[in-house]
Amino acid sequence: MPPTHRVAFLGAGTVGAAAIRRLQNVPGLALSAALVRDLDVPRDLGTRPPRLTTDADAAIAGADVVVDVMGGVEVATELMARAAASGARLVSANKAALAERWDVWGPLVRAGRVGFEAAVMAGTPVVGPLAGALRGSSPIALHALLNGTCAYLIERLEAGTAFDVALAEAQRLGYAEADPALDVDGVDAAHKLTLLARMCALPELAWDEVRRDVRGVRGLGPALVADIAARGARVRLVASLWSDGARWRVAVRPVALPADHALVLARSGKNALLYRGDAVGEVVISGPGAGAEATASGVVADVLDAVAGRPGPVPPERSVPAPAEASAADDFEPIEVA
Ligand SMILES: NC(=O)c1ccc[n+]([C@@H]2O[C@H](COP(=O)([O-])OP(=O)(O)OC[C@H]3O[C@@H](n4cnc5c(N)ncnc54)[C@H](OP(=O)(O)O)[C@@H]3O)[C@@H](O)[C@H]2O)c1
Repeated sequence: MPPTHRVAFLGAGTVGAAAIRRLQNVPGLALSAALVRDLDVPRDLGTRPPRLTTDADAAIAGADVVVDVMGGVEVATELMARAAASGARLVSANKAALAERWDVWGPLVRAGRVGFEAAVMAGTPVVGPLAGALRGSSPIALHALLNGTCAYLIERLEAGTAFDVALAEAQRLGYAEADPALDVDGVDAAHKLTLLARMCALPELAWDEVRRDVRGVRGLGPALVADIAARGARVRLVASLWSDGARWRVAVRPVALPADHALVLARSGKNALLYRGDAVGEVVISGPGAGAEATASGVVADVLDAVAGRPGPVPPERSVPAPAEASAADDFEPIEVA
């Protein structure tokens, strides 16, 4: 009999429940426990659910792999660090914790002990390629659409809807959080950009450095979006890493892009990453950036890697120098909002 790997979950909500349903019939896996806040919440965990518990220590005890699908920063980081200290491999969809507590996560990621594909663009592979196939090039720039809620809001503004009305719609449809600030103010995109930039060029990039230049879509209105469209451009919230003349810059901001730009052509509702490398040229990866099943897909892939003993994605050993020449194609036109 092959060994049974015990997999524990911190969280069994939207993403956790979907990952549990997908993993429960994988041979060689035992879903040992799932930490939740409320044992009485109805949830669909399939036919072989893990034991639910509100006791964090009991949840992670004896687990070979611990999966963070609980969200938040401090509690999740503390529990995952404890799981790592007891020898578990880690899987996380939690971009906020990974971005903000690199002091704890950095050493674990560098040791190849953390899978976090689902933390950026859900199940659409971007972390793996940046840590793998794209390492054959030196990065020149990376630009990405990383927040579906902002994409939806911009689409509604393009259709002439007022910002507050569009936001209320997004909340009613379950796209935006009840407190939409993380999405609308660009913080969620900045968390994801931090992870991408670390994997691409700046392994020690601090969250405080990224958050300095973060703007979201609040304040955009249909008139401004229509003006920009009238001159053949389109508004997008873009998270960018680019060279400003031998110095890397990172920012999240609404920009006006030419209507035929690769990030504009990404299908409606999808996230997209445009990577430019010196040897490979331009690579565009586009796909779902959220949703229970799409995110669970990334989590499941990381769990399978962990139990197979394959190392997680590691950042470059040291910072990659920024190209001396700023590239004209990265000279986006940021939109200033009053
Ligand atoms: N939803 C997406 O599309 C998506 C996409 C990419 C990444 N993510 C990331 O995936 C993670 C989970 O997101 P989600 O949408 O699945 O969230 P969610 O539906 O709110 O689920 C969170 C789960 O964690 C549990 N939990 C939260 N805080 C806890 C605490 N202090 N103690 C014990 N249990 C706690 C909750 O318990 P109860 O069920 O009892 O409340 C719930 O089961 C987040 O980091 C999020 O950023 C989500």
